[in-house]
Amino acid sequence: MDIQTEVVSISPQDVEYERPEAPPAVQVIARPFLKWVGGKTQILPHIDANIPIELRGGEISAYLEPFLGGGSVFFHIAQRYRVGRIVISDNNRDLIWAYETVKNHVDPVIDALAEYQQIFWALNNEERSKMYYATRDAFNGKRHEDTDDVSFRVERTAQLIFLNKTCFNGLYRVNAAGAFNVAFGRYDKPPICDRENLNACSRVLEKAEIRLCDFSEVLQSVGSNCFVYLDPPYRPISMTANFTSYSPTNFDAIEQQRLAAHCLELDQRESKLMISNSDPKNINPDDRYFEETYPHFRITTLSANRMVNCKTDRRGKISELLITNY
Ligand SMILES: C[S@@+](CC[C@H](N)C(=O)[O-])C[C@H]1O[C@@H](n2cnc3c(N)ncnc32)[C@H](O)[C@@H]1O
Repeated sequence: MDIQTEVVSISPQDVEYERPEAPPAVQVIARPFLKWVGGKTQILPHIDANIPIELRGGEISAYLEPFLGGGSVFFHIAQRYRVGRIVISDNNRDLIWAYETVKNHVDPVIDALAEYQQIFWALNNEERSKMYYATRDAFNGKRHEDTDDVSFRVERTAQLIFLNKTCFNGLYRVNAAGAFNVAFGRYDKPPICDRENLNACSRVLEKAEIRLCDFSEVLQSVGSNCFVYLDPPYRPISMTANFTSYSPTNFDAIEQQRLAAHCLELDQRESKLMISNSDPKNINPDDRYFEETYPHFRITTLSANRMVNCKTDRRGKISELLITNY
């Protein structure tokens, strides 16, 4: 829609006094309500600096994010830019259920979390640890149940958020049997129920279509005027790195190639693509995997603070990549 502005000159005596309106209530900016492995909050400024110019100009018809995780890029883009349609997806069922439930039933989720927080904060450390492991057992005990019953989904979402806020390092990791297996973390007053943020997330999620599926399914509908941000589990940068343990099915070399095949096809359809991955040159300066896999794409190297293995004392500055086809 074209907006035309007519410039009219007005002298002070033409202006009738109007009582100023009350300032609008401060709109809370929605931030990810879950901490997720590989979260992009830290490098958002770099991602923003590299988005296609068409997104800034409001000319993108659809934004798609098929490896949603904690959704930091989605929340940023959905609140900052005008996009016709937004599709977010992931193949982690509990994660996608949590997004759907926060979108459609945020009040009961907040009530459940407020109760968790009140109880948890009043306990000593030993009691907190017991509560954590009891909740983890309850969450894992029902991991094969598949029902759209609202109270089941609300309880499961509240459990996931509670575990995410009280576990060691806010990690999400499952074992080969698909059971969440992160240990208890000791935090003084973890923000289990961030009411304002959950409400803000719910409002932003109203703009999005949420899907539980493999990345390839949402890519089928991508056309020339779409922007797709792809943040797959990283290609491991070392034998000890554990970046790909999001689900029992690992995102191995074959999966990286399957993703690349889809991206090269989308490139032919002239959609705008941005792909994140680890920089293999951290370990081997001669590794040209991404240059060879994505020929003609632009590869930008960023420096990020990442865990390089499971122990927190092994954090360090390592570089990661943004790969774009524009
Ligand atoms: C690196 S994380 C995304 C992190 C996210 N950008 C953030 O800021 O939190 C990768 C995500 O891909 C999902 N995933 C793994 N394999 C997938 C597949 N085949 N299809 C769709 N999603 C997949 C995982 O469940 C995980 O949430």
